[in-house]
Amino acid sequence: MSEIAINEPPKPVYPGTEADDAGFAVYVHWPFCAAKCPYCDFNSHVRHGGVDTMGFADALVRELEFNAGRMAATPQRRVRSIFFGGGTPSLMPPEAVARVINAVGRLWPLDPDAEITLEANPSSVEAGRFRGFREAGVNRVSLGVQSLLDDHLKFLGRLHNRAEAIRALEIANATFPRVSFDMIYARPGQTPEAWREELAEALTLAGEHLSLYQLTIEPDTPFAKLHAAGKFAVPDPDTGRDLYDVTQELTAKAGLPAYEISNHARPGAECRHNLVYWHSGDFVGVGAGAHGRLTLAEGRYATSCERMPEAWRRKVLEHGHGMVTDERLDSVEIADEFLVMGLRLAKGIDTLRYTELAGRALDTNRIADLEEHGLIARVGNRGLRVTMEGFPVLNAVVADLAA
Ligand SMILES: C[S@@+](CC[C@H](N)C(=O)[O-])C[C@H]1O[C@@H](n2cnc3c(N)ncnc32)[C@H](O)[C@@H]1O
Ligand code: SF4
Repeated sequence: MSEIAINEPPKPVYPGTEADDAGFAVYVHWPFCAAKCPYCDFNSHVRHGGVDTMGFADALVRELEFNAGRMAATPQRRVRSIFFGGGTPSLMPPEAVARVINAVGRLWPLDPDAEITLEANPSSVEAGRFRGFREAGVNRVSLGVQSLLDDHLKFLGRLHNRAEAIRALEIANATFPRVSFDMIYARPGQTPEAWREELAEALTLAGEHLSLYQLTIEPDTPFAKLHAAGKFAVPDPDTGRDLYDVTQELTAKAGLPAYEISNHARPGAECRHNLVYWHSGDFVGVGAGAHGRLTLAEGRYATSCERMPEAWRRKVLEHGHGMVTDERLDSVEIADEFLVMGLRLAKGIDTLRYTELAGRALDTNRIADLEEHGLIARVGNRGLRVTMEGFPVLNAVVADLAA
């Protein structure tokens, strides 16, 4: 039997080919927003002087072409999903979205039932634009509703109110076959009873998919400063736990159980794009600040692009791409990512795959210990998943297993 050398990348299996079902996807980042929300640390920028949108779309196409060229020596991949994230991609003109989708279809074979998602803000929804996105090929939208309460929307710095959120959902449901929306909970002063009422209403508006995030105070945001100055407090850990339990209870009862730590869907309606990430598939990431993972003949690469939109565009014009990092991952890094991403899923991971990637098995003593504490559970003889008890402390569980 040949020995597997630690730290050497394993022999490539190419996600998105017939030999590997983890999938291949394209992520497109649109880095502009109408206003910056005080809690947000995504790569999003406000440009009061306007944006040369078609110029940026052309740069996105150029960067896609660069990536396709880079992959030319590897077996052909099929695109399972395209995701326009942001920022606020619903500020893009539909022609810009069409140009990018057409370029993807020209550069790679696109699955006939490929999922093509666009993130939208309720305030940038108007029916004409949505129809344009649909005509461009978008078949799923993810709306940033965040709350159904006007005073909470104001606190979150959102540009829309409750009525606009509900109207945006109506237009989305009438236009796209698949609709999801995001809510942020664990807001200051939010009680489990109040969240129960708001979530129950959200579930009456929900179709097949919901993303429910606990408010995180991200460093270097206006919320971080206000929070540090004692201007508001987030719910204490016990209340946070109760809010989480209410979330699991209500979504499960409504037929949208958690399939990932923050994502809920009717069985079969999971977000295929995110599943590519969580299954450690490959994805090309284009646009300012976008990340990618790409398996090439020499191994698996982690890429990231310049974050400042104008600097990114200049780089693309000069070099054909805006990448600022392009690192080959070693086998430990690949295996750790597989663990971090896969354990977010309710169904968990195949431990044999971890062993193949890492060149060593997970520590059975640590597994037994975490199992005894009720934080993880075995599934069959090879599977491992994080329990509902374990999800609130997922990072600690993963850190313990990976150590
Ligand atoms: C990239 S944002 C995009 C969506 C769109 N720009 C919007 O805001 O409606 C993705 C989602 O992450 C969530 N999010 C962003 N910052 C967060 C934070 N600090 N805590 C919890 N959720 C957050 C929000 O629900 C948001 O809709
Ligand atoms: S609109 Fe979305 S991406 Fe833009 S600042 Fe707000 S949360 Fe961040």
